Amino acid sequence: MRKKIVAGNWKMNTTVAEGVELAKAVVAKSAEVPAGVGLIVATPFTHLVSVAEVVKGSRVELSAQNCADKEKGAYTGEVSVNMIKSTGATWTILGHSERRQYYGETDEKLVEKTRLALAAGLKVILCVGENLEEREAGKHFEVVKNQTEAVLFNFTAEDMKNIVVAYEPVWAIGTGKTATADQAEEIHACIRKVLAGKFGEQVAEDTTILYGGSCKPSNAKELFAQPDIDGGLIGGAALKADDFIGIALSF
Ligand code: 13P
Repeated sequence: MRKKIVAGNWKMNTTVAEGVELAKAVVAKSAEVPAGVGLIVATPFTHLVSVAEVVKGSRVELSAQNCADKEKGAYTGEVSVNMIKSTGATWTILGHSERRQYYGETDEKLVEKTRLALAAGLKVILCVGENLEEREAGKHFEVVKNQTEAVLFNFTAEDMKNIVVAYEPVWAIGTGKTATADQAEEIHACIRKVLAGKFGEQVAEDTTILYGGSCKPSNAKELFAQPDIDGGLIGGAALKADDFIGIALSF
């Protein structure tokens, strides 16, 4: 049985002190959430060490939002997978559309980053999703299929145990425009089919696929009720502990 997960992507928000308070509030409320639901907070790099202290011993897991595509050395300003691991974090998000769009993240780089993250013992949330132009041109299935294959087909069924996929339609991120439950479900089902074709039915059945894009307590229930939607990757609503936990209570 695949795991249900609600992950909060804080993006470039909060100071360290604010992040620590937010994490404390999430930990405090986490007892309300059924035991089978995984809770993850993905903080800025600068917050990882402090937030690791807060979540230690709790059910809340810690994630980075990116990692370097090199192992170590003269790469000024980059943060390696081993550095992330040494903070206590156990996950990293990779391939978020904001990184693809603003920082030139390519599928080739994502293969390398995923390889390094898995080798360091980090689990990966790999983001895929079409932009508005691609959706309007009716290319959404093709785009998501291509992004999924371009990265994940370089890995094994065993690797897939440590990889979660997040479908985030770019036009729904931070816009208040959520994909309808049907729109999200058909893409999630498509991703699962792509995974089944490569890794077999069992791996596809066991892979957690999250939805992200203006997910909030008021729409999470309908989204999470879909057979192929296993939780959410939450942006704006993850910055308020009540909303984040409210979403996690929506299964
Ligand atoms: P919003 O929930 O703010 O739309 O962001 C979604 C997202 O990009 C999570 O990674």
